[in-house]
Formats: sequence, C-alpha cells, structure tokens
Amino acid sequence: MIVSGSSSQSLSTVLATEMDESLAVVEYDRFADGEMIVRIPDADDRAIVVASTTTSDAHVELLQLQNVASRRADEVVTVLPYMGYARQDKSFDPEEPVTARAVARAISTGTDRVVTVNPHAEAVAEFFDVPCETIDASPRLAAPLADLTDPLFLAPDEGAIELASTVRDAYGDGETDYFEKNRISDTDVEIRPSDADSADRDVVLVDDIVATGSTMATAIEQLDAPRSVSVTCVHPVLARNAQLKLSAAGVDRLFGTDTVERTVSVVSAAPAIADRL
Ligand code: R5P
Repeated sequence: MIVSGSSSQSLSTVLATEMDESLAVVEYDRFADGEMIVRIPDADDRAIVVASTTTSDAHVELLQLQNVASRRADEVVTVLPYMGYARQDKSFDPEEPVTARAVARAISTGTDRVVTVNPHAEAVAEFFDVPCETIDASPRLAAPLADLTDPLFLAPDEGAIELASTVRDAYGDGETDYFEKNRISDTDVEIRPSDADSADRDVVLVDDIVATGSTMATAIEQLDAPRSVSVTCVHPVLARNAQLKLSAAGVDRLFGTDTVERTVSVVSAAPAIADRL
C-alpha cells in the first residue's frame, strides 16, 4: 500500500499504478492551533510511505505517517523523492547543526528502510540508522528533449557534470562541459564560462536542484548567442521568484521530475523508484 505525503500525491498516484499497489486515501488536517494531524484509514502488510520533505511541515507530516504506518504494517519503507535539508550535510562552524544527519536520524526511527532520489551528496545515505538506497532519476530527463541542433549539455558546476553526461547519454548525442562555480551566499553565485562554444547550439543546462535559480541564471549569462536554452533538473524546488528569474535570463524551456511537484514537473521519477521497491 502506498501512503502518500500531501506534497507527493501525484508521484504516489503514478507509483501506485506503476507497482499495481493500492493507494491509501490519507487525510491531512490541522487542529485549531495549527498543529497537523494525519489519518490513514487503510492498512496492509507493507506500507510504502512516499513523502518529499520540501518544507518543515512536510518533515513532521512524514513522521506522523510513519508513526501510523509502523503501528499498522509489518514493514515500512520510506521513499523520500526529495530529501529536504540534504544540502546541510556539513557544518562549517561548531555553532551550526548538521541538519541532514539530524533529520535522517529522526526519519530512521519510523521505518525499516529508506529510498531516496538523487540526494545532493551520496554520503547523506550514511546518515540514516536503517539501510538507505539512492536512485538516479536523471536519465529520465532526456525524454522531453527532441531534435536538438548541435546539442551542448552543460553542468553549472563540476559536481553536476555526471548528471549532464547521464542526460546526454540518455539523449544519445551531444557534447558535455561544466562551469566553475563559487557560491557567495545562498542566493548569489559567481560562475566562470566553460570552454565550450555555445553559439547557435541548443544548450541544455542540467543540475540536481534548481532552488533560487541563481546558479542557472548566472550560468546562462555566460552563454554566447545559443540557439535555445533548456534548463532541467531532478528536483525543481523553484523557491521564491526562481521561475521569473529564469525566464528573465532567457530560458526557453524549464522542466524537472515530480520529486518536487510543480507545474514544470513533466517527468515522473516513479518508474525509477518502482524498480527499486
Ligand atoms: C548545489 O551545488 C546544487 O547542485 C545546486 O546547484 C544548487 O542547489 C542550486 O541552487 P540555486 O538554484 O539556489 O542556485
């Protein structure tokens, strides 16, 4: 039985069909003081809790779903299509927490295993106290791309070069390169141009996450007269005015997977998740 978090209802529906599993009709509610409460009316031997922790509320809701599921099922599998706080995987100051470790430990208390999609760093899997497997949904990002002219797949930083290569390989043609990025703050980045010539080419920028859009917008500024610019990512977080920022930067096409449910989430990560469950 698939037990969905409120932020992952579309993905859970596709996953239930893909796996031929029943889908619990979870109720999400709030008390007068604002505290959340969930109800799972159905029960089964195995509960697959699917919840992207895109907000702090989503974290609490996940713990609630796991709590009910673990009292009603023999096995609980937790799928984190998008693991929030995963980028806080290091502490640069003893005064600051390693939040990814803290949330991973909390999530571990209500499940037998965890499956997560393209975490920002693979090492995050080691923060869980139960087995955690990671899935790469990036090959699916090639599906909406068609008939590209002299394609150039660019990673906005060195860390995303593998993703750009994976999407290029899945598309079947094109060059890959990356920019050198220096992060100044959570909303500002500095990017140096790549060596690849972008003139008159269909450029596809690939990253794991687009959050504020600053990385992608700054990368696009470095391009020289491209024929078109597509931006794609596994997790389209699109915080604040990211979409406007990207449109103003000249993005022709923006899309991602449904690990984070936005209007641009045109590719489903469900088949890749189903393969692992
Ligand atoms: C960082 O290394 C990540 O891979 C992304 O590049 C980053 O999270 C994107 O954030 P933003 O859209 O806020 O620039």
